[in-house]
Amino acid sequence: MRNKEDEEKTGQCQCRRGFTRRGFLTSVGVGAMAALATTGKLSSAKEASSAEIAAEQAVVITLTVNERSHQLLVEPRWSLLYVLREHLGLTGTKVGCERGECGACTVLIDDLPRYACLTLAVEAEGRRITTLEGLMQGEELGPVQQAFVEEDAMQCGYCIPGQIMSVEGLLRARPQPNQAEIRQAVSGNICRCGTYPHIFKAAARAADLKAKR
Ligand code: FES
Ligand code: FES
Repeated sequence: MRNKEDEEKTGQCQCRRGFTRRGFLTSVGVGAMAALATTGKLSSAKEASSAEIAAEQAVVITLTVNERSHQLLVEPRWSLLYVLREHLGLTGTKVGCERGECGACTVLIDDLPRYACLTLAVEAEGRRITTLEGLMQGEELGPVQQAFVEEDAMQCGYCIPGQIMSVEGLLRARPQPNQAEIRQAVSGNICRCGTYPHIFKAAARAADLKAKR
């Protein structure tokens, strides 16, 4: 089994979060180039050799967030977390460590939990992004949100949006998960208040609520 250090050296982490810090840094140039190519601003192979220039240029991208399409002018170095909060006002996604360690920023990308702090906004173009706000059903809480309330699964609450998104991602893939799968699903979400027993119960309760709805 590869450890985290090995993965960071190779930049080949295949974990569910998708990106290592090294991968994140190297992907700035790649993401910038891809964004420029799709917007028609990449006019020659000569220009493509300068990732530094591209990283500073604002580009227009279209993000699909909670089933709504947004056209945005972004710098290729901006994280998805920054764009969601500061440009789309979706502050349900929390800022924690900003380096892929705490899970507070977890969102779903194509139904899979991902750290928004380690995902570039340009990389998320063309993908389905779901945030905490997208789990609401009109004015009502979604089943996972409801289950966290019913099971009293929060103390300070700061980690909870990320925990909820990880559980939502799990249930989209495994509607009736077992305890081991629940624990695995939230293993990338740190709760400094230690409410894990309630979080595990909430995940199981959420599976029941989803099945009933
Ligand atoms: S803020 Fe993204 S993992 Fe901590
Ligand atoms: S409830 Fe406080 S960090 Fe989890």
